[in-house]
Amino acid sequence: MEKKILKKEVVKNPEPFNPDILTRALKSYLFGNNVIFRDTIGSTNVFLKRLAQEGASEGTVVIADEQSAGLGRLGREWFSKKGENLLFSVLLRPQLPPGKLFVLTMIFALAGIDAVQDISGLNAMIKWPNDLYIGGKKLGGILAEVSVERGVVQYLVLGMGLNVNWNPSMEGTLLYPTSSIFAESRKKVSREDILVNLLKRLEVSYLELGQDMACIEGFYRKWNEKSFILGKTVVVETGRERIRGEAAGIDRDGALTLITADGVERKFLCGDVSVNMTLSEQRNF
Ligand code: BTN
Repeated sequence: MEKKILKKEVVKNPEPFNPDILTRALKSYLFGNNVIFRDTIGSTNVFLKRLAQEGASEGTVVIADEQSAGLGRLGREWFSKKGENLLFSVLLRPQLPPGKLFVLTMIFALAGIDAVQDISGLNAMIKWPNDLYIGGKKLGGILAEVSVERGVVQYLVLGMGLNVNWNPSMEGTLLYPTSSIFAESRKKVSREDILVNLLKRLEVSYLELGQDMACIEGFYRKWNEKSFILGKTVVVETGRERIRGEAAGIDRDGALTLITADGVERKFLCGDVSVNMTLSEQRNF
């Protein structure tokens, strides 16, 4: 019975995203300066990187209802159903050395989980390095792309895909165990409300960092508190190796510390993490 009701809700055409709500709500905000919406786009990150190269101002936001070539981390594809989720990218021009940019991904992820909590009441977590997680499943992902010239950061594009009103169980095989706000709460929420909340939060944190880098400590603490993997036995896959150990912490530069069974401490700046399962095991999960 419940399945039938769900099916009916899913086939209903989703409301298109309304960028005017964003522009009105963010009138005097950094991320309300230049809001660009497209019904369909290749990838919001690719589009925004081009605008950044052409001189677009910090705070420019690109949102799309659909991506024909959505990008995930490590060259993967990002799949999303038209009009059901959030697909967006923001442009920052931070005055930070390239090695310190992870804090911006951190505040972006924190803004994401806090906005999800505010609008839906759901308690999402962060899975190193850039995933938003809920109930052991992927709720969203972040793709951070930086341009550096002669050691100086020119721009940073932060893209997020957040599963909102989608029902992933209606799809065929997905790469990961996947969830959405709808799948967790059985409630449809306003994508515009989430994005407004998220962008306001991001702006507050970004400006705080700009005034005093010491506040990185607070973000770092919260990020670790919200980490889905800390204290758990995990497997890190880097492409070259697969190592099992306990996830002991994430440092200020974003490196994951793993303690292996023989007590050796290893640090990773990138890779994929699965909790007690290999990625291939997860895919069959
Ligand atoms: C990942 O988990 O692999 C990162 C996924 C990032 C997806 C978002 S959707 C909006 C933006 N545009 C893209 O092409 N990718 C990011």
